Amino acid sequence: MVQRNRLRKAVFPVAGLGTRFLPATKAVPKEMLTVVDKPVIQYVVDEAAEAGIEHFVFVTGRGKGVIEDYFDIQYELEQTLKARNKNAELTLLSGLLPKAGSASFTRQQEPLGLGHAVWCARDIVGREPFALLLPDMIMRGDKGCLKGMVELYDKAGGNIVAVEECATDQTHKYGIVGVGEALEGGFRITEMVEKPAKGTAPSNFFINGRYILQPEIFAILETQERGAGNEIQLTDGMLKLAREQAFAGYHFKGQTFDCGAKDGFILANVSFAIERADIRPMIEEPLKALLAALK
Ligand code: UTP
Repeated sequence: MVQRNRLRKAVFPVAGLGTRFLPATKAVPKEMLTVVDKPVIQYVVDEAAEAGIEHFVFVTGRGKGVIEDYFDIQYELEQTLKARNKNAELTLLSGLLPKAGSASFTRQQEPLGLGHAVWCARDIVGREPFALLLPDMIMRGDKGCLKGMVELYDKAGGNIVAVEECATDQTHKYGIVGVGEALEGGFRITEMVEKPAKGTAPSNFFINGRYILQPEIFAILETQERGAGNEIQLTDGMLKLAREQAFAGYHFKGQTFDCGAKDGFILANVSFAIERADIRPMIEEPLKALLAALK
């Protein structure tokens, strides 16, 4: 049955260990690493807000308390800025704060996998559809990825997974979907395969870390056995849900940066910096010189 309940809530699973970014992540959550001058998590929350999300649910873990502090008022800092008449900085800070009562934090006590982290949000989400945004993936496109997904969701209902094209020889690195009937802005998904062996992928559309899911996923995740890496896998749960409910792919026409990996994080910094009118003039020539020196 297609369900068309309005999308109000988004889940941000921030409880992973971030082992690919050690030693930095020994003391700083990877979601708090900065791309230009904002933590990665701020880009993802902004994307959700742009898509009309009203309630932000963070699944945190040990050592991630700084994320909760970041989305709170920093009283002493604000008093100091006021005393020094730093009004631009004050406005910047207040513009980034979620409305009072619109952010919830719950804890994943052990990092048992993404599927388990999502399940930890079940009571806060309740019986309504929700967006899921992997907080280490940030995107650049003409339109926010989740905003485009919501437009497709309003027409198609069900579950939506954002996908992007990759080179055919790279499909073994990703979750890949099978392409069915065309929809405006996307297509019906016929299958989902996690990291298919070379030459066996059903398409070159990879899942980029943005989902709209129906609440029935929680009952599936609750009883689910561990999968790859001995973790409770979201993809396994989605495959079970797909036996009963429709899944559509939203074709995101932009670029995704995996900020949980060093290359993606560095490219995100360069890419977002050159888009900024206040920074580009300072880095354009030095960057060109660096690239020229590579040859
Ligand atoms: P990743 O596998 O990319 O994150 O999970 P990780 O485990 O932190 O990273 P590495 O591989 O050790 O470097 C995707 C998302 O799911 C969250 C992560 O925080 C990340 O945003 N996650 C993963 C959880 O919240 N809990 C988990 O048990 C696993």
